[in-house]
Amino acid sequence: MKLLLVGTTGLVGRHVLDLALADPRVGAVVAPTRRALPEHPKLLAPRVDFDRLPQGADWWQADAVICTLGTTMRAAGSQAAFRRVDHDYPLAVARLARERGTPTYVLNSAIGADASSRFFYNRVKGELEQDLAGKGFESLTFVRPGVIGGNRDEFRLGERGLVLGLKLAAPLLPRRWRLNPARQIARALLEAAVRPEPGVHVVTSDRLVEVGCGPHSL
Ligand SMILES: NC(=O)c1ccc[n+]([C@@H]2O[C@H](COP(=O)([O-])OP(=O)(O)OC[C@H]3O[C@@H](n4cnc5c(N)ncnc54)[C@H](OP(=O)(O)O)[C@@H]3O)[C@@H](O)[C@H]2O)c1
Repeated sequence: MKLLLVGTTGLVGRHVLDLALADPRVGAVVAPTRRALPEHPKLLAPRVDFDRLPQGADWWQADAVICTLGTTMRAAGSQAAFRRVDHDYPLAVARLARERGTPTYVLNSAIGADASSRFFYNRVKGELEQDLAGKGFESLTFVRPGVIGGNRDEFRLGERGLVLGLKLAAPLLPRRWRLNPARQIARALLEAAVRPEPGVHVVTSDRLVEVGCGPHSL
């Protein structure tokens, strides 16, 4: 099968790319990025500007999309810029892939995603989920991690403290609030893409802790 991956230079996306390239069920991967990726015989990695996505490219046609795009308020600089990366880009990718007949979309969303939330971050994630549901995918999965664990290139002080605290407190915490390793999230994303089930599904944070990450039907 052929996968279309966006966000492959990020913490979760890098794991998705590694797993997909190593997976014999995946024959080809297209990963549009704004930074170069190492070459691989299965990989096509066109350099793109997400504000000017190439509408006519034939690689929008795939068996499934996995989206791990996202930014932080600090990096984005404003709510509008954050929304562009965390909502508008994933939705633009969905539109183009769907127009070419791609049947499946899998989103790395977040715990608390809710279009009516009073918190901006949760609202943006919820609005994206809602808007994706209107695109008519045959299979749509929202993987909703809590705090993501893993080695990040970028230094995020607050997040690093949180990750450490969650690691130490893990035995005392309900599964829902434990750290979600990036590799575990990537496995859940890939499985939802490779073995799509019809309808809309959510994978909650308690299923991203160590093993067992099958989707719940909505
Ligand atoms: N951090 C957490 O604990 C947490 C918890 C729950 C959910 N999430 C969500 O999970 C998703 C994945 O998280 P992550 O930590 O793996 O993300 P990440 O490491 O920050 O990676 C984000 C990806 O998005 C791309 N990106 C960011 N800004 C872009 C822009 N302006 N144009 C094009 N591409 C852009 C990055 O590409 P470049 O390499 O080119 O920058 C990278 O590939 C995000 O949606 C995040 O909101 C995060």
